[in-house]
Amino acid sequence: MNLVFLGPPGAGKGTQAHRIEKAHGLVQLSTGDMLRAHVANETELGNLAKVPMERGILVPDDLISAIIAERLDQPDCANGFVLDGFPRTTQQANALGVMLEKRGLSMDAVIELTVDDAALAKRVTGRFQCANCQVAYHDEFNRPKVEGVCDSCGGTEFNRRSDDTAETVMARLEQYHKQTAPLLDYYGERGLLHRIDAMQDIDDVTADLENVINSV
Ligand code: AP5
Repeated sequence: MNLVFLGPPGAGKGTQAHRIEKAHGLVQLSTGDMLRAHVANETELGNLAKVPMERGILVPDDLISAIIAERLDQPDCANGFVLDGFPRTTQQANALGVMLEKRGLSMDAVIELTVDDAALAKRVTGRFQCANCQVAYHDEFNRPKVEGVCDSCGGTEFNRRSDDTAETVMARLEQYHKQTAPLLDYYGERGLLHRIDAMQDIDDVTADLENVINSV
């Protein structure tokens, strides 16, 4: 099964993609995580992506599409994947369609996680993640079960993203509404779009996602 998660910054795409990866053996393909790894390793791509990411604007379509094309050819994607953070523009969606067709693959569902804009800044500014496996937690809404220990990998180091400031989240949200929201119609017209109320508790969002996955 191949899925796309769409939603604004802080909607819970990464949180839910991680759960679905564990439950269904689908690989989580997070373009944000991939880019952050490039920035940390100071690769050529990382150096190109660093400034736009810090400003909350999108990196160029061709760069990000090339990363995904390369990633789809790795053997762990053969059982299916969840795209978390890609596509984000119509050009990326077109590129994805071509990539899948070339590989004889198709998209099974595009799932939008809907959250009120007003709730997003609090989610993003309160986020911290495991330095080892990148699973996200929240100061108030989602703390590790054992304080200071990652539920997923047992890691004990956590960090915060440099783009998780109140100012940058507004820029990211603006990008979402301008560049990514048109994909809702794009995938709606193709009969692939499902909507889930992601204002609910994390477990309830997962339950709704499972229902969608079972239905497709
Ligand atoms: P990226 O890392 O993809 O950031 P984003 O899309 O802005 O999404 P986030 O990771 O902020 O949020 P999320 O929806 O995953 O929420 P999470 O589950 O963590 O991209 C970063 C940057 O990289 C972009 O700005 C751009 O520059 C670049 N980039 C990436 N992809 C690109 C592309 N395709 N093209 C061009 N540029 C690209 O949850 C958030 C918080 O809320 C957590 O603390 C979590 O614990 C909590 N939470 C989750 N669910 C709930 C809930 N139901 N109730 C309460 N709290 C919740």
